[in-house]
Amino acid sequence: MKFTFAGLLTFILLFTITFLFGQEPQIINIENRASLTLNGVWKYVVDPYQTGYYDYRRDARDQMSNPSNSESLFLGYKPKDQTERVEYDFDKSDNILVPRDWNSQKEKLFYYEGSVWYYKNFDYPAPAANTRQYLYFGAANYEADVYLNGKKRGKHVGGFTPFNFDITGKLNPKGNFVIVKVDNTRGLEKVPTINTDWWNYGGLTRDVKIVEVAGTFIQDYYVQLAKNDKNTIEVSVILNGPSKANQAITIEIPEANIKASCTTDSEGKAKTMIAAKNLKLWSPENPYLYEVKLIHNNNVLTDKIGFRTLQTKGKEILVNGKPVFLRGICIHEENGIRGGRAYSKEDARLLLGWAKELGCNFVRLAHYPHNENMARVADELGIMVWSEVPVYWTIQWKNSETYNNAHNQLTDMITRDKNRASVIIWSMANETPVSADRTDFIKRMIETTRQLDPVRLVSAALERRSKEGSANTQVVEDPLQEYVDIISFNEYIGWYDGLTEKCKSAEFEIKFDKPVMVSEFGGDALQGNHGSKDARWTEEYQEELFKESVKMLDKIPQLRGMTPWILADFRSPRRLLPNIQDGWNRKGLISETGDKKKAFFVLQDYYKRKKAEYDK
Ligand code: GCU
Repeated sequence: MKFTFAGLLTFILLFTITFLFGQEPQIINIENRASLTLNGVWKYVVDPYQTGYYDYRRDARDQMSNPSNSESLFLGYKPKDQTERVEYDFDKSDNILVPRDWNSQKEKLFYYEGSVWYYKNFDYPAPAANTRQYLYFGAANYEADVYLNGKKRGKHVGGFTPFNFDITGKLNPKGNFVIVKVDNTRGLEKVPTINTDWWNYGGLTRDVKIVEVAGTFIQDYYVQLAKNDKNTIEVSVILNGPSKANQAITIEIPEANIKASCTTDSEGKAKTMIAAKNLKLWSPENPYLYEVKLIHNNNVLTDKIGFRTLQTKGKEILVNGKPVFLRGICIHEENGIRGGRAYSKEDARLLLGWAKELGCNFVRLAHYPHNENMARVADELGIMVWSEVPVYWTIQWKNSETYNNAHNQLTDMITRDKNRASVIIWSMANETPVSADRTDFIKRMIETTRQLDPVRLVSAALERRSKEGSANTQVVEDPLQEYVDIISFNEYIGWYDGLTEKCKSAEFEIKFDKPVMVSEFGGDALQGNHGSKDARWTEEYQEELFKESVKMLDKIPQLRGMTPWILADFRSPRRLLPNIQDGWNRKGLISETGDKKKAFFVLQDYYKRKKAEYDK
């Protein structure tokens, strides 16, 4: 991580956001830290009018010096005797599972958008001396107000990134309770904005834990190969705690006979470059992961990290200096078989396993940061990853709060996954209409990304259109092409634009000597629905569309990858056709029940040929 004037600006912005939302710096690599899980059965109360949060004057109860016990749900108050009026009771309320969304668990909450109160009580044995405790959430969609033992700990905005609050000294040996108000109400000023083509799953959708760390601990670190240098490991470490200055940090990679150390500055930051000869480099063919130990004060934090170099050269994408073709597929974070948001290692293995079966070495995780298990399993399976923030369609480009929110999600996405070798592309946005405000907004995000991560490639899913006066010529006229490393665009020729036939005559004109990655194409087919190849919604139509699309795209000289839309059918409130869609986007190559469609095998075959071409 390089600290420049621009870096300082980023820091000031981060500080403002932390101050505003009470969100503390993200602690990374939670899965390798000591913790008490709060996953499991919770209690919940649906509160569409936010009665538990606002009084009848619409004043926020948790801002009051003496909020009423009777309605303030965050207090978790229990009546002392039968004379007391308390209008809620978590103990008598229904159960709900965490992590999970509420929509796929409760029939009555299938379409629900609004506030739900979550309640969990737990004991916490006296913490070890000189330790700190953090309340950690993998994600909560969309806005979360968090309370411990009736006291507000903080607020988080954004449905797809982790957050944590320091609760040191706030825990009792017995009878603690966490209460979280989760609100997934959509809004024009939010990120994503009010209109998306995916289900607005609400709730505590990922792990909840109490994480225990040392009084001064390694909060964050970056351990990756230096830019374009397979013999040097770049390390930066951030300590958090009272004695963070002038501290020795040791980095050990036993299998590579590496042991190095560095010392923190007054801010608790340390960085060093480590010479590393003959490392086994991570690649899809050989996803080698090293055990890396970061040691401070005899406290050892381990992580499994792969080392690979990554760059573009003209129209080539080079991984470890070797040209690659990104044989990809788009994935939504959903387990259609169980229903609802995907969250576990098993879900990741299911989805990435299907991608592997398809012959993929790459996946586009659309349109928001997926759970951390996806990137970690991709590390293991040797699947490269495109990770994206939900700057999707028409968000409020002029609204500084909207920008802060997008910036915050971007920073948290990069912070969490920057040590994952599988993650090779940070995507800024999807199908955003070209305008000066929009381009400015996204350029600032690109600058932030390059400051936070000097190595990974930057892109965004742009739009293409037919050239003036030449319907068959497709162009991408977007100023952002100048600023991204990979030119990616979505195209739906043969589905939203004409019939499959149109693919045969379409030509693409892309001026830039940069790699091109087609980030979406495809069409809907109901699995098991058969007919002629001209009949929409049939497997035969989708099959033909894939056959013609890969032929059409193969004509693009700079084509270095594709991620067709999409691996599996997914829920969308915008898909209303009875007996075909019924609330599902049917562009999957696999149905929600896990059954493959004919087009799956067209792409599998194409990827076999592509792999052979690049393995030569
Ligand atoms: C869009 C969009 C997706 C959407 C897809 C579709 O391009 O990026 O989120 O689901 O097309 O229309 O099916």
